[in-house]
Amino acid sequence: MTTFWSTWICVLTIGSLIGLTWLLIGTRKGETKGSVDQTMGHSFDGIEEYDNPLPQWWFMLFAGTLVFAVGYLILYPGLGNWKGILPGYENGWTGAHEWEKEMARADAKFGPIFAKFAAMPVEEVAKDPQALKMGGRLFASNCSVCHGSDAKGAYGFPNLTDSDWRWGGHAETIKTTIMGGRMAMMPAWGEVLGEEGVKNVAAFVRHDLAGLPLPEGSKADLQAGQQAFSTTCVACHGANGQGTEAMGAPNLTHPAGFIYGTSLTQLEQTIRHGRQGHMPAQNELLGNDKVQLLAAYVYSLSHGLNTERLQAEDNRE
Ligand code: HEC
Ligand code: HEC
Repeated sequence: MTTFWSTWICVLTIGSLIGLTWLLIGTRKGETKGSVDQTMGHSFDGIEEYDNPLPQWWFMLFAGTLVFAVGYLILYPGLGNWKGILPGYENGWTGAHEWEKEMARADAKFGPIFAKFAAMPVEEVAKDPQALKMGGRLFASNCSVCHGSDAKGAYGFPNLTDSDWRWGGHAETIKTTIMGGRMAMMPAWGEVLGEEGVKNVAAFVRHDLAGLPLPEGSKADLQAGQQAFSTTCVACHGANGQGTEAMGAPNLTHPAGFIYGTSLTQLEQTIRHGRQGHMPAQNELLGNDKVQLLAAYVYSLSHGLNTERLQAEDNRE
């Protein structure tokens, strides 16, 4: 703040305080002991206005606020560039500074706990109730927007509580996924295969790979679909459609793990236009120690370790 504005604020604030004090004392009437209540001499329909001194409690309250204001302005920053005589406000008071201090206190408190868990293997962390509790809270505030508060996913977002993994379900792989994020790349095949081809291969995926029924009287050529699959799709989804974790290409024989739907229309849409699912990296946002707890939490969900939580869920259902 420039000296001008600082001075301006000081003059206004101190001026008002002095003014108010003067007003309070200057207008205070002495106690008129023993005398009868005086009136102002006005009378409206028989209602008269008394001319009494301010009640004692009101006067004291007003005086108290003035004393508080003066004390506050000496101790804390408030008067222009004055920093207050209490330590810790050398840079003035801002919400950001307070937040940083809060974070520093939290780090001092939780740092050792984080460090302990960071040094353990994820599978071991996943057995620790305290770690799971912390991981659960981190999940609720950072992941549930996409994966759901029960981690069971939604359209376009994978379920993290089952055994279907697009990128791998080992504890360390889960951690790698969360740390670095994932960018899935399913190319668009509409132009390559043509409309017929898309329909055939979609029917093949639904019927032969996922094991789901086709609508009655389906005219799809499953043979042609298989042919197209073995030339176009195997590179990523594998010879039997079992998927390739290194590419995040899902297992197409397990319809429960599909995130873009299993209806023919949805499958055709996926094959025609491709899909680019994006799991955002958390390393910069949350850092290793928190991701460690998250990985343990996610691991526990799919490995039946978080029994307390699962029980609570069962009770709800
Ligand atoms: C370059 C590798 C690659 C090729 C080739 C490829 N896919 Fe995919 N496919 C992927 C990836 C990666 C995903 C996951 C996309 C995502 O998660 O957003 C995927 C997703 C899918 C899905 C959606 C599954 C779900 O979760 O809903 C279907 C269906 C599918 N592919 C079918 C096919 C078919 C049929 C072909 C051949 C015509 C094919 N893919 C070729 C990589 C590939
Ligand atoms: C903006 C939405 C979004 C947020 C936030 C998000 N994710 Fe994801 N996540 C995704 C998507 C989309 C995928 C699937 C990527 C793909 O298509 O392969 C995914 C995939 C994953 C996978 C891999 C699943 C598998 O089958 O291999 C894990 C593990 C995961 N997320 C954990 C987390 C955790 C833990 C958090 C919280 C720190 C989180 N995600 C936050 C969107 C999100």
